[in-house]
Amino acid sequence: MNSPLIKEWTATHRENFGKNPIVWQHSMHESGLFTDEKLIELIEKHPRDLADFCTMDKNAEDMASWRGGDPGNHSGAELLKAVRSGHLWINLRKTFNIYPEYATLLQTVTDEMKAATPNFSAVSMMGGLLISSPSAGVPYHIDRSDVMLWHIRGRKRVWIYPMDDQTLPESEVEEILLHEHNDDVPYDKSFDDKAVVYDLEPGQAASWPLHSPHRVLNLGEMCVSLTVEYSPFSAVMQNGAQITNGILRRRLGLNPQIEKQGRLSRFIRFAVSRVLRKMTLVKAKTAHESGYLFSVDPEAATAVRELKQQKHAA
Ligand SMILES: [Fe+2]
Repeated sequence: MNSPLIKEWTATHRENFGKNPIVWQHSMHESGLFTDEKLIELIEKHPRDLADFCTMDKNAEDMASWRGGDPGNHSGAELLKAVRSGHLWINLRKTFNIYPEYATLLQTVTDEMKAATPNFSAVSMMGGLLISSPSAGVPYHIDRSDVMLWHIRGRKRVWIYPMDDQTLPESEVEEILLHEHNDDVPYDKSFDDKAVVYDLEPGQAASWPLHSPHRVLNLGEMCVSLTVEYSPFSAVMQNGAQITNGILRRRLGLNPQIEKQGRLSRFIRFAVSRVLRKMTLVKAKTAHESGYLFSVDPEAATAVRELKQQKHAA
């Protein structure tokens, strides 16, 4: 690639990366790898066990209505049409790890981030391709790993919230880390007053600190983004420490606070969490237990046909 992907990276970006929400310019959307034809090809050939087809209630404020669906035998073209006209959110996980031309882009991202930010630790970089309907959104939630969002097509609004006792009680982070398929974080509209809000255009990327609550809403256009998930050792250690804190809180009635724990304390708690995992005091669900709750129907108004299926009790 002749021109760098990152178009601007100032001292302010360098200082704030991973510590505060930031947005920057890039040129990934000019690569020619995200045309309708390319998306159709990817949707068609991507392994189904690495593809999530999801929907959610309109105006949903939490992840409770988030559900997975069956893409059926529709062609890539039909499924892209369903995304354009319906209410769907697709994640083609590991697209940027599997296919050489996309992997080259992720490698360039990694190299440029490393060069631009001395403390950038590129461990297990995973690049998923998000393709979502003009009305789709992702309700208030946190992610377990560090995340960057490189926006490529359409416009989407991202709200990023600070972490305080209201927006994200520490016990909620622990709850999520302890239960693999629980992403529910209590949300109240009043939190929006505290949020940093970005309206992302093609050619803009954003990142935020680990565990920052955030939500996303597409602004009337089909959207395409690269989501990069990575887990530097600091994130693995912090998650491990918070898992241990969660157990101390729940089993021993203590009130540990991650902010007040230094590096050594965090490290010990991280190590303990590894042992606890082995002792199966921490139960990690490994399979998607709920099954498909809808099937994709390109002819339906929202492209969603609900399946008559009982929701499993968690
Ligand atoms: Fe997220």
